[in-house]
This record gives sequence, C-alpha cells and structure tokens, in this order.
Amino acid sequence: MSLPALAITEGHPARANGDPLRRHQRLLRIGALAWLGAAALGQLLFAIYIVGFYGSSTLAGQPQRWNEVMPHGYVAGATAFNAVLAMHLLLAAGIVLGGGLQLWPALRRWAPAVHRWNGRFYMAAAALLALGGLAMVWIRGGAAGDTAQHLGTSLNAVLILWFAAAAWWHARQRRITEHRVWALRLFLAVGGVWFFRIGLMLWLLLNQGPAGFDADTFTGPALTALAFAQTLLPLAVLELYLRAQRQAGGLRAWLACATLLVAALATLAGSLAAAALMWWPPLAAG
Ligand code: HEM
Repeated sequence: MSLPALAITEGHPARANGDPLRRHQRLLRIGALAWLGAAALGQLLFAIYIVGFYGSSTLAGQPQRWNEVMPHGYVAGATAFNAVLAMHLLLAAGIVLGGGLQLWPALRRWAPAVHRWNGRFYMAAAALLALGGLAMVWIRGGAAGDTAQHLGTSLNAVLILWFAAAAWWHARQRRITEHRVWALRLFLAVGGVWFFRIGLMLWLLLNQGPAGFDADTFTGPALTALAFAQTLLPLAVLELYLRAQRQAGGLRAWLACATLLVAALATLAGSLAAAALMWWPPLAAG
C-alpha cells in the first residue's frame, strides 16, 4: 500500500522492499500523516471561525463585535490600529487556508505556478502578520496577557520573519531540500497562535478548568509556558522527525512516530475543544 505524499512526509527515498530503512520511513510517514490530518482539520475549524465571525461582523458594519472575543480589539477613533487589526484578521484567514495548500506536493507537480504564487503570498502574509502583531503588542498595547506572554509571542514573530526569509532565500537559490526544511519550520511557527489556542483548550480539558493561571487577569505560569511552547514545542517535534528521516535507525523512527501519534491525538482533542468552547459560541451568537 502506498501512502499519499505530503511535503512533510517527503524525505530520503527508501532503497528496496524489505529494507529496514524503508520500514522506518514508512513509520515516519504514518506519524506525519496522522498529525497532518488532525492539524488540517483543526486549522480548517480555526479558519471557519475567522471568516465566519470576523468576516460577517465586518461586512455587517459591526467591527465593535470583535471585542466580544478580544480584550482590546476595535477601538472607536483609533483608525490606524483598527486598520492594522483588520488587515491582521484578513491575512490570518488567508494564511491558515494557504498553509495546507502549500504542503500538498501534488499541487507543486501539477501547478507549480500556483505553488510559487501561493508561497509568495504565504511568506508576505507571514511577515505582515508578524510585524503587525509586534506593533499591536508593543506600540498599541493592551493585548491579552502580561509581558512574559508578550515576549513568548514576540519570539514567535521573530522566528516567523527569520524562517520566511530563509525559506524564500533557499527557494530563490533552487536549494529545494533546504527550502523544504525552512518552509516546514515556517508553517509551524505561523501555526503558533493556533497552537496556543488549542493548547489552552487541551490544558483546560485535562485540568477540568483553569490551572496554573488566573482566568480573570489571564496571567500565570501555565500561560507563560504556553506562550513559549506554542512555537518551541512543535519545532522540537519537527527536529526529531527530520533527524529520524535523515539518519536511519529503528529507535529514532519509532520515537518520532510515537511522538507524532501522541501529538495527533492532542491536536485533535485541543482543536475539537477549541471549536466547541471558543470558536463556535461567537459564531452561533452572530
Ligand atoms: C502568523 C500567524 C497569525 C495568525 C493566523 C493570527 C491570527 C489572529 C487572530 C485570529 C486574531 C483575533 C483573536 C481571536 O479571535 O482569537 C489575532 C489577534 C491578535 N494577534 Fe494575531 N495572528 C498571527 C500572528 C501574530 C503574531 C506573531 C502576533 C504578535 C507578535 C500577533 C498578535 C496579535 C494581537 C496583539 C492580536 C489582538 C488580540 C488582543 O488585542 O487581545 N499575532 N491574531
């Protein structure tokens, strides 16, 4: 049986049937596909929320409704930052949907021009989201959370800018192996805000309520840790996977596969909890 290929599952080809290397690559593909399936569903639900809630409230001429879900969203009279936030939300919807498309190798083979243009949009959108996010956190002020969380989110923004530049540079130089690695890092860093939301919902689910943070002030060690983990944890799992793909070895492949399967379950549970408790209520109220 051959498994469908996705960019993340592409690596070094196996040599021959029955080769242990081939078995290990198969394990890695199974783990990667399980996680990608859960992530695709979770990101689709996030995109539906962004388009459904922010899109419809904006088109209805009610941007003040953004404040139902953000502590410091629309501010009457603050034209410049309202425009930055509106742009942020528009790009957020596009980038969440565009990411899945970009990881689909069939698109690269059948329509390489679409891959290139979607890739340019993705990198430009990622940079604008990161820069706009930094401006909202450090210049506008009033974003949810405390300084420690803002540092975690800012690390995410800086890594997005770095990974986008590296992925673009390697693509320009036609170094496709390096481009793939940096593009995967970029995909995970761009997913940071989504990881934060599903991570928070999973944490609430596991603890049956807020634990390690104050729900009123939205501060505490659990949220500080999550603000950094939203970027660093997925990147660590990716490194584990890439190393297992590069260096043949049964133990590495099993470890990476098991980690990805656990990550897939956590992603699925966190995404469904976020959809039910965080994203669906404002959509239903509209
Ligand atoms: C790159 C991918 C990103 C996506 C897809 C994204 C998505 C979103 C979404 C959907 C919201 C609305 C809040 C909600 O409904 O949950 C939002 C708000 C916001 N985002 Fe982002 N974002 C991204 C990156 C960033 C970065 C890197 C930063 C900071 C450095 C940032 C800072 C903010 C801020 C400050 C708000 C307003 C929240 C508030 O005032 O409480 N975003 N973002």
